[in-house]
Amino acid sequence: MTGGIDIDQVLVFMTEVITSAGAEILSYHRGEFGVERKNVKESSIDIVTDADRASEDIIVEAIRQRFPEHDIVSEERPPEISGSPWRWLIDPLDGTVNFSHRYPVFCVSMSLAHENCIIAGTVYDPLRGELFQAASGRGAYLNGLPIHVSTTDRMERSMVATGFPYDRATHPDNNLAEFCRVMPRVQGVRRGGSAALDLAYVACGRLDGFWELKLKPWDMAAGMLLVSEAGGRVSDGAGNPTDAYTYCVVASNGIIHDRLVEAIGRRGRFDPGERTDGVRQD
Ligand code: IPD
Ligand code: CA
Ligand code: CA
Repeated sequence: MTGGIDIDQVLVFMTEVITSAGAEILSYHRGEFGVERKNVKESSIDIVTDADRASEDIIVEAIRQRFPEHDIVSEERPPEISGSPWRWLIDPLDGTVNFSHRYPVFCVSMSLAHENCIIAGTVYDPLRGELFQAASGRGAYLNGLPIHVSTTDRMERSMVATGFPYDRATHPDNNLAEFCRVMPRVQGVRRGGSAALDLAYVACGRLDGFWELKLKPWDMAAGMLLVSEAGGRVSDGAGNPTDAYTYCVVASNGIIHDRLVEAIGRRGRFDPGERTDGVRQD
C-alpha cells in the first residue's frame, strides 16, 4: 500500500485501461483517421489525430470513474488539477508522427505519481502486444517477465536513441549538436520517434542509452521508472538525479552513463533552472 492505495490493484487497472486504449488505436491504424495540426501555423509539425483523442477519452474516463479525486495531466486536454497528492500522467499516443504515416512504432504511456514521485508506470505497444510495467521498488516487467538493462560497457558497442523537439527548425537548442557529438562515439544512434518506447527499450536492454531535450512529463514518467526499476540510471543533462519535469533526460544501463553524459556535452552549459513547461506538482 502507498498512501492508502493498493499498488497491485493500480497495476491491474493500468493494464486493463492501457490495453483497451491500445486496441482503439489499432482500429484507427487499420482504417481511416483525421489529422490536425496543433499549431495553427501551416508549418507546424506537431499534430494530433483521432486516435490520440479516442485513446485519451478511454483512459481519462476510466480514471475519473475509478479514482475521482485524482489529478489528471494528459497531453491532449487541459490539466485537471485540484491539489490531490495523486497525479496521473498520460500520453495517449506516443509517436503520433509515426502513427500518422503508418510507421509501426508508437505506444501508450501512463503513470501514477504520489507527491511528485512516480510510483507506477506502464508503456504499451499495441502492434507488438508488448506491455512494459514497473512499480517503485518492485522491478520492471515485460508481459509479466522481469527485465533488466544491458551490460554493454563500451561506448563503441552501444546502441543509443534520441529524438528532436518539435521546435527544431526555429530554436537553436534542437539537439543537432548533441547528436553530432554522440554519433561518432557509439555503434549506432536510433531515432525511433516514440520517447516512451525508447525508454522502455533501455529498460529491457534493446538499447544501451537514450537522451532527449524538451520532453514533457507524460513522455518520460513511465519510461524513467521502467529504466530505474530495471537497474539502469536516469539523470538530467549534467548527470544529476532528476524527475519527469527535467529539460534534458539521459537514461542508460548505468555502466556507460557518465560517458554518454560527457558525449552529449550539456554539462557546463546546463542550467538546472531549465524545466519543461509541463505542469509541475510543487
Ligand atoms: C513525441 C515522441 C518523439 C519525441 C518527441 C515527442 P508525441 O511525442 O515521443 O519520439 O522525439 O519529442 O514529443 O508527440 O508523439 O506524443
Ligand atoms: Ca509523447
Ligand atoms: Ca502524444
